[in-house]
Amino acid sequence: MKIFLDTADIDEIRQAARWGVLDGVTTNPSLYAKVGGSYDDILREVCTITSGPVSAEVVADDVEGMLAEGRHYAKIAPNIVVKVAMSENGLEAISRLADEGIRTNCTLLFTANQGLLAAKAGASLLSPFVGRLDDINQDGMIVIRDLAEIVAIHGLEAEVLAASIRNPLHMTQAALAGAHIATTPFKVLQQMIHHPLTDKGIAQFKKDWAAANEAAAAKG
Ligand code: G3P
Repeated sequence: MKIFLDTADIDEIRQAARWGVLDGVTTNPSLYAKVGGSYDDILREVCTITSGPVSAEVVADDVEGMLAEGRHYAKIAPNIVVKVAMSENGLEAISRLADEGIRTNCTLLFTANQGLLAAKAGASLLSPFVGRLDDINQDGMIVIRDLAEIVAIHGLEAEVLAASIRNPLHMTQAALAGAHIATTPFKVLQQMIHHPLTDKGIAQFKKDWAAANEAAAAKG
């Protein structure tokens, strides 16, 4: 499973890239609002850090507006993927952007049917929101499993991207459910790295190493 970072924070993206685990980045208007500045500049910089897909979300409601924003973002770098929310107009925009050779990520998916339609319209990435379904007492991972199966059964070109990830368990479950990609907040990525026994073990090894060296030095 590929791992994307769900953030517009350049420092977080640089750090994940240094760890060698970064396959791409997703942004959205809410994540952009957290960091501010110029969205174009942020996207440009992110695309210098990773050559993987970088999602840039359109906010227009009408098809022509979505197309204009999408074409604009696609010009920023070859690895930009235009993120379009699921709607009737969104499907049309996805279809027309696909005709122009512009890759899209269909976002705000909450059912496998929505994902199937997005794939048929030509979206490259299908983003069901796991956490937001869990929030309303529905099992978001079922959508990931169903959609991954539909994509596999019918040999669809699209990849299933588990979004709205809230905790490390979601990452394990997404991988087991067959998600091609999961996009995660930086904090969850850090939580995946750490384990109390790993951290305790490292501290103990350091202590024992220092004690052994002290003993060797005392012996001369
Ligand atoms: O990128 C969109 C998605 O991951 C949002 O997550 O936590 O706002 O539901 P969240």
